[in-house]
Amino acid sequence: MRQEASTSIEDLPYTAAVAAATQPILDRLRGVIPEVEWPLHAPYIHRIEQLKRDRNAVILAHNYQTPEIFHGVADLRGDSLSLAMEAARTEADVIVLCGVHFMAETAKILSPDKTVLIPDLRAGCSLAESITGEDVLALRERYPDTPVVTYVNTSADVKAESDICCTSSNAVQVVESLGRDRVIFLPDEYLASYVASQTDVEIIGWQGRCEVHERFTAEEVRGYRRAIPDLVVLAHPECPPEVLAEADYVGSTSGMANYVTEHSPEHVAMITECSMSDNVAAENPETEFIRPCNLCPHMKRITLKRILRSLETMEHRIEVEREISIRARSAVERMLEVGRGSGG
Ligand code: 13P
Ligand code: SF4
Repeated sequence: MRQEASTSIEDLPYTAAVAAATQPILDRLRGVIPEVEWPLHAPYIHRIEQLKRDRNAVILAHNYQTPEIFHGVADLRGDSLSLAMEAARTEADVIVLCGVHFMAETAKILSPDKTVLIPDLRAGCSLAESITGEDVLALRERYPDTPVVTYVNTSADVKAESDICCTSSNAVQVVESLGRDRVIFLPDEYLASYVASQTDVEIIGWQGRCEVHERFTAEEVRGYRRAIPDLVVLAHPECPPEVLAEADYVGSTSGMANYVTEHSPEHVAMITECSMSDNVAAENPETEFIRPCNLCPHMKRITLKRILRSLETMEHRIEVEREISIRARSAVERMLEVGRGSGG
């Protein structure tokens, strides 16, 4: 792997060469990013592209990343499940995970010999914060012989104490794959209640919540519908049940994006994080997006500037203790064997 000398990132100029090299990206993002902002983004995009080649690095970006990252520098994009699958199969030496910490940790668990970087270590998740490995052990004692299905939005410690992981796109499929009457499903109480509504398997949940999706209300959704009668409402299963009851479709972030591409609705509202609508709008210019939006402060810690710094300094490296990594990996790999669900 070739490594270049570090560059100062404070003074990247918007030159004619940078403008020409980044023009195709700007064309794609017209209507999503104000053109006056482009001179601020383009030099970073240009430099990041060069460094990716020098480091043999690949950038994986979650659907909640801002459009200049998602469409500007990402090599692979998607929901939590697709990012995990891509991390498992990439041939790059370095993975830069533009998302939150549990996603980078999952990438490291699946690719332990690769360097996995996250541009800002503070990019956490309220669901991952809601539960520890010790909590899982206590639940196992309370419900002996009950398998533990764990949402990937958790730490490696929690995954290591689990039988199998799931994401929002395959949760029902994973629960049913176990062939049991009852499972422990952690840690999102709203995803757990959504899964319970889709299966006969008894679900024992936990009290974790996504701080972004729990804020949406059913009345808010009804208000959008009153204003736009032909509105198609797509919602993420981390929303409260009364919000999901108002939706036309419930699915993972990629599930929602695919719905728009496949159905081309005239008006759509995605009940999820703000950047989703921007990213999907860039690829579906015919659809008008009503933009209810709550920001994920953790996702928004990732910026072009921090991605560039990460590639220059090769920080922040994700490390997972070997014994935990091996056990967590078996839970993630069991999920990958079950495959992608209908919601993704
Ligand atoms: P997805 O797996 O649907 O991308 O969800 C990840 C997430 O953090 C949603 O808040
Ligand atoms: Fe976690 Fe919610 Fe942010 Fe997703 S949107 S990373 S679940 S806090």
